[in-house]
Parts: sequence; C-alpha cells; structure tokens
Amino acid sequence: MGAGFVRKLMFALFLCSAFVAPCAESRQLRFVSLLYRHGDRSPIKSFPTDPHQESAWPQGFGQLTQEGMRQHFELGQTLRKRYQGFLSEQYQRQEIFVRSTDYDRTLMSAEANLAGLFPPNGSQVFNSNISWQPIPVHTVQESEDRLLSFPLPNCPRYDLLINETEKTEEYVNLTTNNKKFLEMVANKTGLNDVSLESVWSVHDTLFCEQVHGMKMPDWVTTEVMQKLKILKDFSFSFMFGIYKREEKARLQGGVLLGHILKNISEAANASASDALKMIMYSAHDTTVVALQMALDVYNGKQAPYASCHIFELYKEDNGTFTVAMYYRNESDHEPYPLKLPNCVQFCPLQDFIHLTKSVIPMDQEKECQLSSSLQDTEVIVGLTVCGCLLFLLILLLLTVLCRQKSNPNGYRHVLSDSEDHS
Ligand SMILES: *[C@@H]1O[C@H](CO)[C@@H](O)[C@H](O)[C@H]1NC(C)=O
Ligand SMILES: *[C@@H]1O[C@H](CO)[C@@H](O)[C@H](O)[C@H]1NC(C)=O
Ligand SMILES: *[C@@H]1O[C@H](CO)[C@@H](O)[C@H](O)[C@H]1NC(C)=O
Ligand SMILES: *[C@@H]1O[C@H](CO)[C@@H](O)[C@H](O)[C@H]1NC(C)=O
Ligand SMILES: *[C@@H]1O[C@H](CO)[C@@H](O)[C@H](O)[C@H]1NC(C)=O
Ligand SMILES: *[C@@H]1O[C@H](CO)[C@@H](O)[C@H](O)[C@H]1NC(C)=O
Ligand SMILES: *[C@@H]1O[C@H](CO)[C@@H](O)[C@H](O)[C@H]1NC(C)=O
Ligand SMILES: *[C@@H]1O[C@H](CO)[C@@H](O)[C@H](O)[C@H]1NC(C)=O
Ligand SMILES: *[C@@H]1O[C@H](CO)[C@@H](O)[C@H](O)[C@H]1NC(C)=O
Repeated sequence: MGAGFVRKLMFALFLCSAFVAPCAESRQLRFVSLLYRHGDRSPIKSFPTDPHQESAWPQGFGQLTQEGMRQHFELGQTLRKRYQGFLSEQYQRQEIFVRSTDYDRTLMSAEANLAGLFPPNGSQVFNSNISWQPIPVHTVQESEDRLLSFPLPNCPRYDLLINETEKTEEYVNLTTNNKKFLEMVANKTGLNDVSLESVWSVHDTLFCEQVHGMKMPDWVTTEVMQKLKILKDFSFSFMFGIYKREEKARLQGGVLLGHILKNISEAANASASDALKMIMYSAHDTTVVALQMALDVYNGKQAPYASCHIFELYKEDNGTFTVAMYYRNESDHEPYPLKLPNCVQFCPLQDFIHLTKSVIPMDQEKECQLSSSLQDTEVIVGLTVCGCLLFLLILLLLTVLCRQKSNPNGYRHVLSDSEDHS
C-alpha cells in the first residue's frame, strides 16, 4: 500500500473517465421509421428464349421464396435486438404501424419480418405449437398507392425529365459504348429492343435463376453478368438521378421523404409516453432508391433483398432532437451509418428538415403538370367563360334581329326610298 497503489488507482480512474466520457453524451431514442425491400423472389418475367419459364418457379413469377422469408425473419430478429428496451417486451399494437405495397411479396415479407420481431411470449402465446402471432399489415390498392410504389405514375413532368435524361451525355455515351453488347443481348434473349432502361429485366431474370442454381444459357458468361449488373445499377441512377436529381426527387422520392419527416416531427412533438414508436414500410428496390436519391445518400447499387433504410429520432440531453440514419444492406455487417450531406450523423431535426426542404414538394400533383399545359380546372373555367360569352353574343344577335323584324318601317323603308332616288 503506497505510491504504487495510488498510481494504480489514478490510472484506473483515468481509464474510467476515458471510457465514460463519450457515454456522458447520452441520448434517448424516441421514434423509428423503417423502409425495407422485400426478400429473395422469383423473377418478375422471363425473356422469349429463356428455357426457365414461369412454371419453373413453385409459385410463379414475382413471388417471395423461402429464402426471402428467412431473410426477413432474420431482419426482424435483428430489429428485435436493436430495439430491445425501446419496444415493449411484448407486442403492443399502439407502438407500431406497418404499411406495405399491395404485392404478395411485400405483404409476405412484412409478415415474415414481424414473425422475427414479435415472437409471442407468455400470455401472448395463443397456440403452444407455434411461436408466432398475427400482426396487422396495412396496404392500399396498387392503383391508389401514392406513397410507396415508384416511379409514381401520372406525372408528365417526370416523363419529360426522363426523356431529357436520355439526351444527356452520360446516357448517350453509355448507350454508344454498349451498343454491340445490347444488340447481342437482344439477339440472344429474343427481345425486340434492349435499352439501358430495359436491360435490368434481363439481369433480374438471370440473377434469380443463378441464385436458385438453375442452368445459365451458354452466352451468359461471368463477364456478361458483370456487364449486365453495371448497366442494371445504372438504370436506378437513371430513374432518380444523373440529371435534375432535385426536381426528380420533388416528383418522386421527396413525396415519401416528406411523409416520413412529418411523422418524425409529430413524434418529436409528442410526449415521451406517446404510444407510437415505429412505422415500418415494406416495399421495393425502387422505393429504397427513390428515398435515398431524394436524401442524396444513394450508394449507386440496387438495394439488395431485405435491405433496410433506418431513421432514428433521438432526444438529446440538452432537450433538442436529432435524426440519425442507417442502412442495413448486409446481414453480416452492422447497419452502415448514413450521413445527410452537410450535416452530422446525429443531425439536428430542424437542420434535417431545412436541408431536405428543396426536395419535398408543396403539391406533387401540381408540380407533375407540364408548365405549358393548362390545369384541368383552368380549362373548365376557360370553357365555361367562353360558353357564356358565346351565349350572350347569340342572345344579342337574336335581340337585334328580332328588333329589326318587329320594326319593318324603320330605316329600311327610308333607305329603299332613298335607293329609289339615287
Ligand atoms: C418472456 O417473458 C418473460 C416475462 O414476461 C421474460 O422473463 C422472458 O425473458 C421472456 N422471454 C423471451 C424469450 O423474451
Ligand atoms: C400441438 O400439437 C400436438 C401434436 O400435433 C397436438 O396433439 C396438440 O393438440 C397441439 N396443440 C394445440 C394447442 O394445437
Ligand atoms: C417522352 O418521349 C416519348 C417517346 O419519345 C413520347 O411519347 C412522350 O410524349 C414524351 N413525353 C413527354 C412528357 O415529353
Ligand atoms: C462521353 O464520351 C466522350 C468521348 O468518348 C468523352 O470525351 C466524354 O468525357 C464522355 N462524357 C461522359 C459524361 O462520360
Ligand atoms: C443475331 O443472330 C443471328 C443468328 O444467330 C445472326 O445471324 C446475327 O448476326 C445476330 N445479330 C447480332 C446483332 O448479333
Ligand atoms: C404519419 O403522418 C401522416 C401525415 O401527417 C398521417 O396522416 C399519418 O396518420 C401518420 N402515421 C401514423 C402511423 O401516425
Ligand atoms: C410541433 O410543435 C411546434 C411548436 O409547438 C409547432 O410549431 C409545429 O407545427 C408542430 N409540428 C407538428 C408536426 O405537429
Ligand atoms: C452496403 O452499403 C455500403 C454503404 O453504402 C456499401 O459500401 C456496400 O457496398 C453496400 N453493400 C451492398 C451489398 O450493397
Ligand atoms: C444539443 O445537442 C446536440 C447534440 O449533441 C447538438 O447538436 C446541439 O447543437 C445542442 N443544442 C444546444 C442548443 O445546445
């Protein structure tokens, strides 16, 4: 007992403070918003020369496979661990809201995910033979989905931007440089025309077949797959970026981002004991990319199966709110932190809202109209005014004619008289 002990004690204290200091900055998780892509699926379609047509898949095209179910069950379990202590031990219906697009594969992915996230325990076990309980998943009809199904339809302004994107140097170059390759793909697949926009579908079909151990046609070499992959990834950038990214975002991903930020702001305003803790969206690669392009955090790669974009709202020690984003795109890797450009990882909510303001539309439907064309309502008003004017004109004309008829001894008489004399 002496100087040595004191030194050791000091050292221990120093170590403690070194480890404790970063933790002193504590924050409390208040709300989570998640968007994920469905899991592994069968191809959406096949090409004419493909030996593996729809009957090659147990449930046909575009369906979640058992591998896809496992992927989402695993994601659900990961979320259970991540939000241990935030979500209640047992499922509480007020804590979570789940919305999916109206596709079998996204609805089923959400269900598989929730099976991993909310295994019943204790009083919630309704049948001792199954460790599963039903959790509601909401959807709206595909034709009415203006939130999760991208690209959002009926948007002439967006169509025009896409047409203009096709004229950009980047697009023209890539088409020129791959002319031979795309022609070869068209020839081999029996498709009439394969462009940078449609080539993803060929890759998709081959990729699904490869994942499921089906025999590849002879022309599909490793190099061909690699090239298809690059062009496929490009088609996602093409859809939501490359050219006028911000304006495209206002017509597409900004709609979803605005919706999510509204819910996050509401959660920041609500009291800590407020029930809603998590909103979960089950959708597609295009949904994830549209959102990430609007945030300008897209990594240029098609969103993989069961990849998950995470928003977390925190209340800081000093009472302010911050938003942190993560991207879980690899099951064997911790979610990657995503930093909003020009902000920090724990971005103050007000800054987050301010920095994304330019990509959130005030009125998407209106902004989707071509500026030169008139709004429907304007056309109706215009036509009505024209009709009224025409009616008044006819009325005026008829009145004049009637007055003339009922007054036959007017000027005419005088005139004819004078005519006789001239
Ligand atoms: C089930 O609930 C009990 C108490 O409610 C808890 O002690 C136990 O850890 C829970 N088990 C699991 C697997 O969550
Ligand atoms: C569980 O499974 C066993 C064996 O199949 C069956 O006898 C039993 O009735 C089942 N229990 C419930 C609650 O369904
Ligand atoms: C975009 O191009 C297509 C085909 O060239 C054309 O049919 C369509 O009218 C164009 N859309 C707009 C909004 O200019
Ligand atoms: C397009 O190709 C030309 C000539 O090959 C090259 O000079 C130019 O930098 C390319 N532009 C882009 C955007 O790739
Ligand atoms: C397409 O295939 C046919 C028959 O195999 C061949 O004659 C033709 O040259 C091919 N065209 C291209 C562009 O590869
Ligand atoms: C999210 O915000 C929207 C718009 O404010 C609102 O209509 C919706 O009810 C909110 N969702 C939930 C689950 O509270
Ligand atoms: C949150 O509260 C502030 C101040 O009380 C208010 O100005 C703002 O509109 C509220 N936001 C939402 C989304 O309710
Ligand atoms: C996952 O995201 C990170 C960060 O953007 C990226 O570096 C990585 O390549 C991505 N992995 C896959 C499989 O897309
Ligand atoms: C509160 O804490 C956050 C995160 O540490 C920080 O970004 C913010 O500037 C602080 N605000 C005030 C008013 O101290």
